Amino acid sequence: MNVLVTGGRGYIGRAVAHGLAEAGHTVVSFDMAPLVGEKPRAASSIRQVVGDVRDEPALTRTLQDHAVDAVVHLAGKIVVSESVAEPLPYWDHNVGGGIALLKAMLAANVRQMVFSSSAAVYGAVAAEPIPEHHRRDPLSPYGRTKLTMEWMLEDLDRVGAVHYVALRYFNAAGAVPGVTVERHQPETHLIPNALAAAASGPPLKIFGSDYDTGDGTAMRDYVHVGDLADAHRLALDHLAQGGASMALNVATGLGYTVAEVVASLERALGQPVPTVAADRRPGDPPLLIGRGTAIREQLGWVPAHPDLDDITASAVAANRP
Ligand code: UFG
Repeated sequence: MNVLVTGGRGYIGRAVAHGLAEAGHTVVSFDMAPLVGEKPRAASSIRQVVGDVRDEPALTRTLQDHAVDAVVHLAGKIVVSESVAEPLPYWDHNVGGGIALLKAMLAANVRQMVFSSSAAVYGAVAAEPIPEHHRRDPLSPYGRTKLTMEWMLEDLDRVGAVHYVALRYFNAAGAVPGVTVERHQPETHLIPNALAAAASGPPLKIFGSDYDTGDGTAMRDYVHVGDLADAHRLALDHLAQGGASMALNVATGLGYTVAEVVASLERALGQPVPTVAADRRPGDPPLLIGRGTAIREQLGWVPAHPDLDDITASAVAANRP
């Protein structure tokens, strides 16, 4: 298939684009990032279009010029705390961009979308691991923009305009050698911050030590970025075979605390990660673990790297000079 990947030059987008190209799809990446710097291993087989996901005419042209059959939509803004402080750019990029893309898809008669949603759609969680039917009541503007996109896709699916799989990511982590390394600007994520602390300091701030999680630090469900990418490939196959629209967690069902992640990184590094206790970060839930059974049943997704030590080892290896 010819597949458009929006946000194809981001941390997760690179893994998705590469995985689809390796599976034999023709991949077009559509991303705002200029074409400089690190190249994915499969760069030669991935066509790169530089553009803004809010630019409907550019999207329509790209879909038509490349005879695109299906879209994987990752482009968007992703920092939860930033979305609380500055909500409008989140609505603009994540929902405005989503509407522009959906209009372009309808104009170009492209009817299938795999959408990058988030565990952030759930909000305060009453049950762990979280099942897909859990109440969706996001705490942040970021989460609300993702939920709004899910609602829009549900409405379009109901009238047969677009069929979709919304993948609710839990914590993407780790690296695929030569393809993608976890880096953001600004960096707010645990593993890159811990690796930076180990390399040269300042110490890693551990946000909260008084959660009800055993060791007191917050617990998350870490999914290897290569496994996350694989979920997109399977979701596209599902839609191509006429499968029903649905929303699925991409989760292992396993929870690890911040202290456990740091200990795992220390094993992989063979050196300590300097840390300092800090206050809880506003908006952080104590635990976020997803039930991962539906995606296994519906798509046959089996994570190759559910083990935390595998994930941290891949991050450490990718960051070695
Ligand atoms: N943490 C620290 N110190 C740091 C960075 C993070 O202690 O320097 C802690 C956080 O407080 C949290 C855990 O490590 O408890 C994981 O934090 P991340 O920032 O790595 O990831 P989040 O769980 O905050 O966010 C992830 C995605 C978001 C998504 C969210 C779903 O990165 O895009 O899950 O709620 F929205």
